[in-house]
Order: sequence, then C-alpha cells, then structure tokens
Amino acid sequence: MEKEEKQKVYIIIKPKKMEEKEREEQEKEERREEAVQPSIMEIVKPIEISIKDKYIEEVKKEEVEEEEMKKISMNYPLITIDNKVFASAHIFWDPNIHEVVYFVKEPSISEEDKKLLRKIETFIQEKINVDFNKLRKSDAINYLTKLFDEALEYFKKGRMDKNLKDILKYYIFRDFIGMERIEPLLKDPYIEDISCDGVGIPIYVYHKDPRIGSIKTNILFENRETLNSFVMRLAERCGKIISIASPLLDGSLPDGSRVQATLESDIARRGSNFTIRKFSEKPLTPIDLLRFGTCDINTLSYLWFAIEHGSSILISGGTASGKTTLLNVLSLFIKPQMKIVSIEDTAELQLYHPHWVPHVARVSIAKEEREIDLYELLRESLRQRPDYIIVGEVRGREAYVLFQQIALGHAGLATIHAESFSKLVDRLTTPPISLPPSLIQNLDLVIFVARVRMKEKYARRIISIAEVIGFDKETNTPKINEVMRWDPFRDKFIINKSYLIGKIALKSGLKEDEIKKDLKDRAKFLYFLVKKGVNDYKEITKMLNMFYSYREIVMEKINAIL
Ligand SMILES: Nc1ncnc2c1ncn2[C@@H]1O[C@H](COP(=O)(O)OP(=O)(O)OP(=O)(O)O)[C@@H](O)[C@H]1O
Ligand SMILES: [Mg+2]
Repeated sequence: MEKEEKQKVYIIIKPKKMEEKEREEQEKEERREEAVQPSIMEIVKPIEISIKDKYIEEVKKEEVEEEEMKKISMNYPLITIDNKVFASAHIFWDPNIHEVVYFVKEPSISEEDKKLLRKIETFIQEKINVDFNKLRKSDAINYLTKLFDEALEYFKKGRMDKNLKDILKYYIFRDFIGMERIEPLLKDPYIEDISCDGVGIPIYVYHKDPRIGSIKTNILFENRETLNSFVMRLAERCGKIISIASPLLDGSLPDGSRVQATLESDIARRGSNFTIRKFSEKPLTPIDLLRFGTCDINTLSYLWFAIEHGSSILISGGTASGKTTLLNVLSLFIKPQMKIVSIEDTAELQLYHPHWVPHVARVSIAKEEREIDLYELLRESLRQRPDYIIVGEVRGREAYVLFQQIALGHAGLATIHAESFSKLVDRLTTPPISLPPSLIQNLDLVIFVARVRMKEKYARRIISIAEVIGFDKETNTPKINEVMRWDPFRDKFIINKSYLIGKIALKSGLKEDEIKKDLKDRAKFLYFLVKKGVNDYKEITKMLNMFYSYREIVMEKINAIL
C-alpha cells in the first residue's frame, strides 16, 4: 500500500514535457543556425594518418589457449569477519563442462540449523522498525546484533556453540545488511558485472582477469518468488520503486554500481532479471583499451590528436558496448588548461583533470525534491563557460542544446545508443530528440563501438569511425568518410585518409609532415606507457600533462629508451 502511494508521487513529479511554445522558439533558432555548410571535401585535402614505425610493436594481448585455461586455479577470500573467512572465491577449470567456473564457498549448515536460521530471520523481520538503507553502517550492525541476540534468547539458544553462532550471524548480516546471496560477488574486486537472466539459471560474472572474462557461478535463484523479491530489494537500494505497473529499473546502488532490472510482468514473461555493473574505483584507461585490442595505437593517436584540437565526438553503440568507458578514456586526453563540464544521469565519469566540473541529474522520489533533468542541467552548466562539454548519454531534448553549442564552435563529447549510422541519424532526428538533420553536420566524428563475439569470448571493439564531412541535401543525411574500420576476420583496424586531420591542418597552419610527426610522437608515447606498465588513470593524466607541457624533452627521453 505504502509502495503504491510512493509510486503515485513519482509519476506526478515526472519532468514536465517541454512546452510547445518554447519548442517552436527553439526550432526557429535552430533553423537559423542550420544553414548547410559546404562539404569539407571541397576545401580540405585528406591526410594519410597510418603510422609506420619500426619501434612500435603489437601491444594487444594474445588469446589464451584452452591448455592455459585448464591451469587456472584461484582461491581468495571475499568476506572476512574478525580474521575469519566466511565467503571465498574458487575459480577453476571444470573438466565436465570444459569451462572455467566461479564457486562461492560459504559455511555449510545442517538442515536443522537452516530451520533455526529461518526462524531467527522471521523474528528479526517482525521486530525491525527502522529502514536499514537510512542507517549508518555501524548503527545498522549494532541494531542487528541486538536483535540477533534477542532472537537467540527467545529461541533459548543463547548458549549455542560459538562457531555456529558466528555462522548464523554471518548469514543474518549478509541477508539483512548485504545483498543476500550475491553479497560475496559484490565484495569481489575482480568482478565487473553480475548478471542474472532468470529463475534457475546460474548467475554469470565478468572477471577482470583477461584470461577468464565471463564465467558461470554456483549461485542462482531457485524460484520466482525469491528472484522477484530480490529485484524489488535491489530497486529499494537504488532509491527507486519497481512494480508490475512500472517493471523496468535503471538505477545505481549507494556505492555507484549501476543496476538494470526487469520485474516479471507482461513485458518480461520469462521472469525477472537483473544486471549489476559494479563501480570500479579505477576506470579503464587508454592503455587497457590497447591491451584488450579495443583499438590500435594508430587509431588512438588519431583520436587523441582530434581531441586536443577540440573536435566534437559522439560515441555510438548498443547496450553495454563500452560507450561510457570510451568516453572516459577519450576525456583523459583533454588538455589540462581546458575547462570541462560534464553532465550525467548517474555519476560514471572519473577524470583527474584540474578543471573538471561534474554535474549529475537529480531524480527525486520525495515530493519536496524537484527533478533536474539533463536539459536543465546542461543549460545551467553553460554559464560556467566550458571549453569541453561532456554529456554522459544523450537521450532527449538536451541533445538540442549540445548540438547548438557544437554548432557555435564549442567542443562536445557524448554517447548515444545507436548501433549504426542510419540508426543514429534516425535516433537524432525523431522524437524525443528531433534534431534538424543538418545540425548533425557540425559533429566531427562518430565512433561506433560494439561488443563482438571472438571465438568463445566476447570482446569490445571500435568497429568504425566516421568523419562527418558535409551534408547531402538530396537524402537529407550527413556525408561521412569512414576513416577507420575494424576487420572482424583478421581482428585488425583499417585506416583511411582523414579529412578531419586535413581540416585541423588548414585551421592551425600545420604542414602535413608536421602532423605525421605529431601523430608518430603520440603513438610512441602511448607505446611507451604500455611498455612501462603505466595504467592508472591518475598516473596517465600526470604523464599526459608532462607531454603537453614539456613535449620535446619527453619525446627525446622516450626516443632514447625505445
Ligand atoms: N574496451 C573494453 N574492453 C573490455 N571491457 C570493457 C571495455 N569497455 C567497457 N568494458 C566493460 O564493459 C562494461 C560496460 O561498459 P560501459 O558502461 O562503458 O558500456 P555502455 O555502452 O556505456 O553501457 P550502457 O549502454 O549501459 O550505457 C563495463 O563493465 C566495462 O568495464
Ligand atoms: Mg553508458
């Protein structure tokens, strides 16, 4: 009942649709700005950007053979209380299914003790009169310890074996304060995602060890009720409400992990499911992308050059294809003197830039809190006069503001959900975004990322980079030059001549030779970071700052080492 009431409030305060009038005004303004520019093909000479240097070798890690996988055997603790390990991870090759599997080991208890555990749980459930989400962790622990002791007294088990008592307490804490059976997985720093596809299906996790990747665990939800109530609890933890009437959840846990879930309903007939993408203290870096083979040094040097020269870039791809990760990686390249303003729905970006002002939209559940959406946030943030505007993901009317700013010559970076260029144009030009097609020509680049299947494993690749070079009035679509394309058969990147670099050369007065040398320097610098194993985003930012400030000295040193 209480939940239903809360939900009503939520619906009432959903952001108001933009008023028609305001929209018309805006459209008028855009029409003024959207005069078609001449194609840069007519004025710019494209430049060869392929870097050949005998010192730069392949940096991608090689595929792991099955024989190598068979040797995998890892054991490490996940939950330790008072120096006692209660949950640990066991990762090993399972010869029966020819896969590496992930086993969560927890203390075993007899059937009888399990019954007692259920009784204690019910006892505590009935007595609880506080919301754990609102308590500080230490207060929650004290409160729960008190109730647990009361329960033992009540069931006349006050003098039970200390070992058994600790085990029962572990399960009570895991279930009441933690996230129940997946709590050990959440505590594993090597796990990136946790996904549950439905009842009776083992939960899969994505392990950071590049040999392992996506693996099956021994954890599952055995029936609909437990999975449904778990999904509702997840929503509660995110400060949101999920119900049959509104069965989709997109939120984040207090630690910043992102949660997507669907509650069993007419739109999810196969039952509830969820994915938790854990917040990583350490974001992936340009060096990780090179090691994983997401792109090659050539491509990255080109993108770095483009960013340094204030290019506006849209990163486009499907769900979980690595858009936000690439956005973060590219943002690291922004010059330290530039002022960056970022706006996001959930705080995902992690930069170490001296002039970075992050903003996060507010979605309110309580009546008194006003919602602030990306559109409002973006308009507000422009007052801060940023050099680079970053929008976590464009979905609605904020796209107008972003593209207007780009048209006015500001630099912008953003991600969008679209798997191909035609889908992208479609997405941008139809409601709720509804951009006039010609505004798209102000973008410099669109990078397409995808999660692709490579033999037995999934990998993420930049599959294409399109330079926007004009606008075709006949088809009403932007003209593009595909400067890079991934060849799925050879897992290589094919580079073509670049109009964007030609345009930058024209603007900055740089000669073709100078640009080629510049790109080569960048490639060597990146190669040097890979070889040196510099792979922390803060360290990388420091190194990049050095490159920007003392480029000649830095390159001299690197050339001497390579
Ligand atoms: N290049 C990459 N190589 C390996 N793993 C990656 C790569 N890029 C992203 N990942 C991992 O993939 C997951 C999804 O990444 P990310 O959040 O960037 O995707 P997304 O496309 O922004 O997703 P969404 O559609 O939810 O916005 C994360 O766990 C991230 O660590
Ligand atoms: Mg994203």
